[in-house]
Amino acid sequence: AFPRDLTGVKMVVSAGGTREPLDPVRYLGNRSSGKQGYALARAAAQRGAEVTLVAGSVADLAPPAAVELVRIRTAEDLAAEMRKRAVDADVVIMAAAVADFRPVNFSDSKIKKKGTDPDPIELTTNPDILRELVTARSAGELSSETVLVGFAAETGDENGGVLDHGREKLARKGCDLLVVNAVGDGKAFGTDDNTGWILTADGHETALPLGTKTLMATRILDAVTPLLPTSSG
Ligand code: C5P
Repeated sequence: AFPRDLTGVKMVVSAGGTREPLDPVRYLGNRSSGKQGYALARAAAQRGAEVTLVAGSVADLAPPAAVELVRIRTAEDLAAEMRKRAVDADVVIMAAAVADFRPVNFSDSKIKKKGTDPDPIELTTNPDILRELVTARSAGELSSETVLVGFAAETGDENGGVLDHGREKLARKGCDLLVVNAVGDGKAFGTDDNTGWILTADGHETALPLGTKTLMATRILDAVTPLLPTSSG
């Protein structure tokens, strides 16, 4: 049996990668599997939350039971969904791997090879969705009680780098909780296991021992629950 400690809590979780199109057949993408976001959505629903899962490109994953599933392709699509859905949410978890950049131009027809030199791809910056949500909350467009959660996939070894980057990112993004994962060398992406830390804006740092993404989801939700206002917690 699962605790029903998230009964009545409205949660929006983003998962998977975005794909930034170049032409009808090509895109810039990333290797996010969506597994951690799906595990979070499933675990939250089992604990009684009303969950919307906004998913980009993901591995062949079964949609979690009792979760509203919305599919998106690009970072801009995701930004639009998140801006809209965050308004009613008690918790927003940005587990998606959002492309930082997108091609400036989209070619309606397949880009042809011309001569021997490739044309450069000109890029522009995508919105930082998590940062925008923090700003919207400060501006009163979201409830001041909305809990905003981010992820940070950092390369580097366990002691040097990863945790420091995570602390810096938590401060820069301004979210309430940041899940820091060590990536690279086959860690995190596409695997079933995960490890890292949970950092909170109020200074708590919890190490996450290596475990399944389901276990990780449970630990993340355990860290989110105390941040909820008591009325809905
Ligand atoms: O800065 P970085 O991309 O490492 O931050 C990761 C966190 O920010 C994740 O929670 C990710 O979903 C979110 N993000 C975002 N919009 C972006 C890039 C990242 O919301 N354009």
